[in-house]
Amino acid sequence: MHVKASAPGKAILFGEHAVVYGKPAIAMAISKRSCVEVLEGSTSNINVNIKDLGIRGCIDFNSGAIISDSPKKGILKYILESIKKVHDGSGIDINIDVNIPIGGGLGSSAAVTVATIAAVSAYNEIDLKEEEIAKYAHEVELVVQKSASPLDTTISTYGGLIYLETNAEDIVQLNIDYDIPVVIGYTDTRGDTGKLVEAVRIRRDIYPEIINPLINSIELITEEAKQAILENDKKRVGELMNINHGLLDALGVNTKELSNMVYTARNAGACGSKITGAGGGGSIIAYCPGGTGNVISAINETENALKADISKEGVKITTLH
Ligand code: PMV
Repeated sequence: MHVKASAPGKAILFGEHAVVYGKPAIAMAISKRSCVEVLEGSTSNINVNIKDLGIRGCIDFNSGAIISDSPKKGILKYILESIKKVHDGSGIDINIDVNIPIGGGLGSSAAVTVATIAAVSAYNEIDLKEEEIAKYAHEVELVVQKSASPLDTTISTYGGLIYLETNAEDIVQLNIDYDIPVVIGYTDTRGDTGKLVEAVRIRRDIYPEIINPLINSIELITEEAKQAILENDKKRVGELMNINHGLLDALGVNTKELSNMVYTARNAGACGSKITGAGGGGSIIAYCPGGTGNVISAINETENALKADISKEGVKITTLH
C-alpha cells in the first residue's frame, strides 16, 4: 500500500483573539499544502523524513520514544500522536513536505497533523469522515500543545473560507465565486500563541471596561466583514482589516516588525492589512485585489512574503496502490 495525503495551511482574516472569548472568526485555507506519503516500513519502526526541514526521525510506537538529533524535532510529536489515532504500530515509512512556514501562525502543525491522520488511516484502509479527521487532529493538537482552538484543524480539514464560532460544529462555509488574493508577510521571529492569549487575558482582567469593548468591536468587525465578503465589497473588507489591526495593536499583540509589514503592504497598494494569528512575531495578511506583485516585492525587501489564494480543497487523499 502506498498513500499520499495533503492538507492546507490557514490564515485568519478577522477575529483572532476575540475568538478566545466566544466571538466568531473568519479564516481561509491557503494554497500552501503539507504533503504526507506513507509506505510499507523499511524497518519495524516508524521512520519519518521531513524533507524540506531536513528532519529525520524514528518513532518507537510502543514506548512513544522519538529518536532524532534534529533541533526542530518537536514536529515529530504531532506525527506520533496522529499515528496513535489510526495505526497498530507496524513499521511504516512516512515522507513529509511541510511547505508552510512553521511557527508563523499559518497552521503548519495542523496541516501536517490532518494530512498524517488522513494518510495513515487510508494506508490502514480506515475510512474516516472529514469530521472525524478534524476531531482527531484537534485532539492531537491539544495533547501536544496543551491548549489549542479547533480553528486550524477545522480549516485544514474542510478547506475554503470559513466563518467559525468557537464551537466547531458551528462552522459556516462562505461560498464565494471570486478569489480573495492575499499576501502573507512573515518574520523569522515566532510568536508564542499561548503566552499571547494569556497576555490579552491579563490585560482584560486589569482593564475589563476598556478591553471588553475592544473585543466586542472585533466581533462587530467580523460580522460586518462577513457581509462585505459575501457582497464582494473590496473597499469595506480592506477598511475593516485596517480597523481590526488597530484593535489587535490595542490588545498588545503587535510588534515593530509586524507593524512595518502592515504599513509597507498598505503603501505598496494593499486594500487593507493586519496581523494574522496570535501576533507577537509571526505573520501579517494583506488584502490585494488590485494585484499582489508590488506588495510581495515591498515586504520581501525586509521580511518574507508569499502569495496565498483560498484553497477550496481541504484534506485530500490519493491511494497509489
Ligand atoms: O497564531 P495562530 O494561528 O496560532 O492563531 C491564534 C489565534 C488566537 O485567536 C490568538 C488563539 C486561538 O486559539 O484561537
